[in-house]
Amino acid sequence: MTATKLNEKDYADLSQYMKDKVALFDQALTCHWQDKKYALYQSMSYSLLLPGKRLRPILCLAACEAAGGQAEQALYAAVALEMIHTYSLIHDDLPAMDNDDYRRGRPSNHKVFGEALAILAGDGLLTEAFAILTSPPANVNPLQALEVSNLIARAAGPEGMVLGQALDLEYMGLDMQREDRLHLQTALQAIHTGKTGAIINASLLSGAILAGAGREFIHIIDEYSRKIGLAFQIADDILDVEGTDEALGKSAGKDESQGKLTYPALLGLEQARKKGATLVEEAACLAARLPSRPLMLLARFVMARSS
Ligand code: IPE
Ligand code: IPE
Ligand code: MG
Ligand code: MG
Ligand code: MG
Repeated sequence: MTATKLNEKDYADLSQYMKDKVALFDQALTCHWQDKKYALYQSMSYSLLLPGKRLRPILCLAACEAAGGQAEQALYAAVALEMIHTYSLIHDDLPAMDNDDYRRGRPSNHKVFGEALAILAGDGLLTEAFAILTSPPANVNPLQALEVSNLIARAAGPEGMVLGQALDLEYMGLDMQREDRLHLQTALQAIHTGKTGAIINASLLSGAILAGAGREFIHIIDEYSRKIGLAFQIADDILDVEGTDEALGKSAGKDESQGKLTYPALLGLEQARKKGATLVEEAACLAARLPSRPLMLLARFVMARSS
């Protein structure tokens, strides 16, 4: 995949923007997360501190700024969101789920620390995230913080990411030729919206809420996030087919070998790409209404990325 929809200047501006937000995020993460001596903390740190894209924090901070806030107001939520995301990756890689040995360019958590500690590291990151969300910094409005905690809990839980992960497993190994196509399309959208879209949606909404955004802004950012959340997972599916272990920092080609229900598997690569591109263009138009150039560029990044 290449950055066909991001020209050189857009790409340079977006890279700088993402770098700046990651630098802010890294500082906040250091404040919220101190490595302690037990193996549990080492296991949690191992996955959390490996260089992920930090897309959910970036989206959270970008939404906060687009709504007229300061990124600093939303940093604590950005840290919590990345902890939840990291927990989801650790559990996703477990033998009982995707059985993946490689993540963020290194052996998966359970390959280094064993399954039991990987499960506990995930549990630890998830609960620590809610400890952070429910003790926000003094300059955050407590009602907004409560709304954000509830929103993120719903997105991470059995109506959101956990449901998406369960459906992902339930629909594994189907003979797609024998199933009803419409049913598969509906299921696929529910899987992707749940396992990936829900936290992306919550990341953007959290940033906007913490900036005190009004109803119209929230409505647009909600629509925007649903489109890029789905596009992000479509791109992940495509990269699984076209990418390499080295470029992705995780094992490529797993979806097909495990019979996962994905966009390339159901629609083919070309239609999957078209679907992703349409979602991204619709999202970019919504970002233009906010208006937010970073969110417009981030929408394109979702499909243009190579890892
Ligand atoms: C991977 O997420 C899991 C999905 C939801 C597709 P990312 O591609 O954001 O992974 P990191 O955070 O950069 O490692
Ligand atoms: C994982 O989806 C989604 C979550 C971790 C919630 P995938 O299984 O497609 O993610 P990768 O490809 O392993 O990163
Ligand atoms: Mg998975
Ligand atoms: Mg996986
Ligand atoms: Mg994948």
